[in-house]
Amino acid sequence: GEGAAREVAMEALRAREADAVPLGKDGLVAHLGAREALGDEAGRALDLALELAGRGARVGVATGRTRVRLSRPVGELVDRAAAFAREAQPGQVMADATTTELTRGRFELQHRGGGSALVKGPLLARRTETSGGAPFVGREAELAQMLASYERCTDDHTPVVVSCSGPPGIGKTRMRREVLTRIVTTLTTPRLVVVRCESFGRAQPFGVAAEALRGLLGLPKGVPAADAARALDQRFGDTVRGADDPGREQVARLLAGELLATTQGGRDALWIAMTDMLLRASAREPVAVVVEDIQWADPPSVRWLDHVVGRAVGRALWLLVLARPSFWRDHPRAFMGRDHARLELRPISRRATRAIARAVLGERGQDEQVLERIAAQAAGSPLFAEELARLAATGRGAAQTPTIEAAIQVSIDALDPTLRDAVGRFSVFGLSAWVPGLSALGVVEPPAVLRQLAAAEVVVEHADSRFAGADEWAFKHALVREVAYASLEPADRAELHGQAARWLAAVGEDAAVVARHHELGGQLAEAGVQWERAARQALAASALPDALTMAEQSLGFASSPPESFARALLLDEAYTRLDARSSERETAVRALAENVYDAASEVQAAGARARYDDDRGADAHIAERLLEVRQRAGLLGLLDEEVKASAALATRLAYAGRLPEAEAEAAHLLSLAERRGAQAAAVEAWQCLAIVRHTRGELLSALDARRNAARAAAAAGLRVREATLTINVGFALSTIGARHEARAAIEQGLATAQSIGSAGVQQLGRMVLLGWAALFGSDAALDVALAEPRAEADSAAGGGWVPHDRLTLGVLFYRGVELLRGALPADAPRALSLLRVAASAYRDTGMRDLLPVALGEWAEAERRCGDADRSIALAREAAELIEAGAPSLLNEAPVYLALHDALVDSRPREARDAIARAMPPLRRRLAGLGGSSYALPF
Ligand SMILES: Nc1ncnc2c1ncn2[C@@H]1O[C@H](COP(=O)(O)OP(=O)(O)OP(=O)(O)O)[C@@H](O)[C@H]1O
Ligand SMILES: [Mg+2]
Repeated sequence: GEGAAREVAMEALRAREADAVPLGKDGLVAHLGAREALGDEAGRALDLALELAGRGARVGVATGRTRVRLSRPVGELVDRAAAFAREAQPGQVMADATTTELTRGRFELQHRGGGSALVKGPLLARRTETSGGAPFVGREAELAQMLASYERCTDDHTPVVVSCSGPPGIGKTRMRREVLTRIVTTLTTPRLVVVRCESFGRAQPFGVAAEALRGLLGLPKGVPAADAARALDQRFGDTVRGADDPGREQVARLLAGELLATTQGGRDALWIAMTDMLLRASAREPVAVVVEDIQWADPPSVRWLDHVVGRAVGRALWLLVLARPSFWRDHPRAFMGRDHARLELRPISRRATRAIARAVLGERGQDEQVLERIAAQAAGSPLFAEELARLAATGRGAAQTPTIEAAIQVSIDALDPTLRDAVGRFSVFGLSAWVPGLSALGVVEPPAVLRQLAAAEVVVEHADSRFAGADEWAFKHALVREVAYASLEPADRAELHGQAARWLAAVGEDAAVVARHHELGGQLAEAGVQWERAARQALAASALPDALTMAEQSLGFASSPPESFARALLLDEAYTRLDARSSERETAVRALAENVYDAASEVQAAGARARYDDDRGADAHIAERLLEVRQRAGLLGLLDEEVKASAALATRLAYAGRLPEAEAEAAHLLSLAERRGAQAAAVEAWQCLAIVRHTRGELLSALDARRNAARAAAAAGLRVREATLTINVGFALSTIGARHEARAAIEQGLATAQSIGSAGVQQLGRMVLLGWAALFGSDAALDVALAEPRAEADSAAGGGWVPHDRLTLGVLFYRGVELLRGALPADAPRALSLLRVAASAYRDTGMRDLLPVALGEWAEAERRCGDADRSIALAREAAELIEAGAPSLLNEAPVYLALHDALVDSRPREARDAIARAMPPLRRRLAGLGGSSYALPF
């Protein structure tokens, strides 16, 4: 309004601690909390806004920090509020996402896109004494610590994780609300993304990550992939590579909840693109990602969040996670090595407990005896204190409520029957439910019922919804849900789950969640279909343990051979990728055989059996069987099976020394790659050729084959393979003495492994790098990368059992060599102990390609520690192995040098012979380098 009306309004605002100044001809702008933080600025702003609207004004509300110039707020925040005001009709209030997030559950909203909403009025007719919760008490230290971590993050542009854990009801969610309020009103306002994990069912791999990225883009669940892609382009259009970028395509599918591309490498493209999005967003402005109830998040999302924080160097990315203690049991290594402030919420003090009880009790809170009793029984739990006080306020004693659950049960029982019934139906969905979903479950007029439940402090409304056009509500506490759910009749519960499954499937919920509902609803066939879909998605995301259980579940519910067969294939694939030799894979292979239903399935079943036997090294005729499968698959046009059988066959022939046949098979694979576009086949072909050539001593062309394999993997988008193969090229280069080139290749492979978050390949890379350092000498630049393997080895040097796999043993072996070469006499005993463990393990497990050189190094360590006889015996054993034809991966020189040094004092003639014996293997290596530039330095 103008003139006098505006003056009156401004006076009213000032009387309520808001600073108000005129804006333009007929507007005004008011702001709260700039001079002094009030706490709950957002809630007060909405109260005032509704009053102004009551006088016919159009009002826009935005929450954040702003500059104040000449008592007038200026900047983006004011522009945002003004834009909302222009959009509103006279008498309406529009609020932004931050405001609605911070006042969640207290106002009736009509949601619009991107989290903003039309504010209809306060949800509770008048805030009664027992509603809205107590003032925040007893957590000053934790609050200060969290705010400090956020400030450090934004001031220093550095990624920080804060975790806040504690048992149910201890105050994690409340803490989160208080921290966010203070951050957005008093510190640099971040781009805020809040994700709530759902207790229900097993989450889809990357489900929580998808939720966070949708939040970043302001997209609801169930958007079509095309819209998601458009949103990506709008926000990241300057950087994404356009429609042919496989990462963009994958992210769009993930956001839309569509099946991910199942091509190999699809998961890596997804991972990199997701990481990229969050990194780019946090390069532009501070980003605060909040994950509530992370104990229910899917493990791949947890790994990804951890990974992004590790990658966000130089960026203001703040990750706040709230967790029940079980999270740390399930993820003991989460956020290790990150800048991580870990807070444990302890019980609050007796004084704070009494303050909560007093606030809830209102005027009755004067009764010292009641307060004392509540404080004693609540034992420092804010939730229990609230519940007990609420009971006391209605005149009930606390005698029958020894636990929080019991207190909640009494409150639920006190609701009127319609509400109680609705609470039960609501609990079937889990923590959150949606208005149309509740209708589908037989709740009459959900909006009215929900408002009453909100007034009774049972549920709260969410500012945004997982599903477009479906208002989302949530239990105020997970414990309330648990109590309500437990009191449902089993028969009702099953029927409701069935209805929930149908509704959720229709709105695009993740298959895993829908499957679980079907299962609990006793609809096993439908459950099977959804589990199959979920398993496919998990495979595409490389979430292999998930894929395994999901595929198993779906197989159990299959009802026809084709259905069983398709699901057994998924199961076999999951086992193959997780651990191809595991005895459990037998279940999948057998299920395939039992459900053969046509010629193609018969070939596939035979192929799976042959490959499994091959992986286990079980049968003598495997090569013949693989060949047969490969030929029949070719005739039937089963390209995938043909490639798999051919690759297994080629490798087998190469290792068996049937070199010409192996070469022929590799040529077949190459032609499949070329003519039929099976890019992965080229990787297998080149790997096979590398083995063949290496066995022939053609080191140079073996190196070429390795390089080609890495290149083929890159071309096929197989990033894990690419990283592994690049590291292997580096390894091969170090065995021929190409010092600089070797290091460059290893570091390149390591970088690729890091970018895709592959822990296994990073371990491999560090092991090979340690080998490089042992051979050529380390320098300070490698200290960071090598800290972990060195420490791992040094702790194993003290004795104790170590796993006998190539990675662990390699680390021990190379660390032993490094210590031995380090010329510190004091290190020799440690070197001896490591080399003994590694070489003995190689001997016990028959790893003959590493054994001779490991024995040689062990011999050298024995000599330095004074046991000459033992040294001679070991060095002889090593030399004899080489001369009997053991194919050493490593340069054989150390074996003969050790033999020479062990003998030189007592038997000089034999020592001279040792050097002579070294010449043939070394000459063979030199010949393999065929006059190339590597030959001379070698
Ligand atoms: N420091 C506090 N001062 C006042 N009230 C508090 C405090 N901490 C928690 N409360 C109140 O106690 C109740 C339970 O807290 P909250 O919901 O935050 O628990 P939680 O740790 O998130 O539990 P859950 O693990 O079940 O999610 C809430 O109503 C909250 O407002
Ligand atoms: Mg909580």
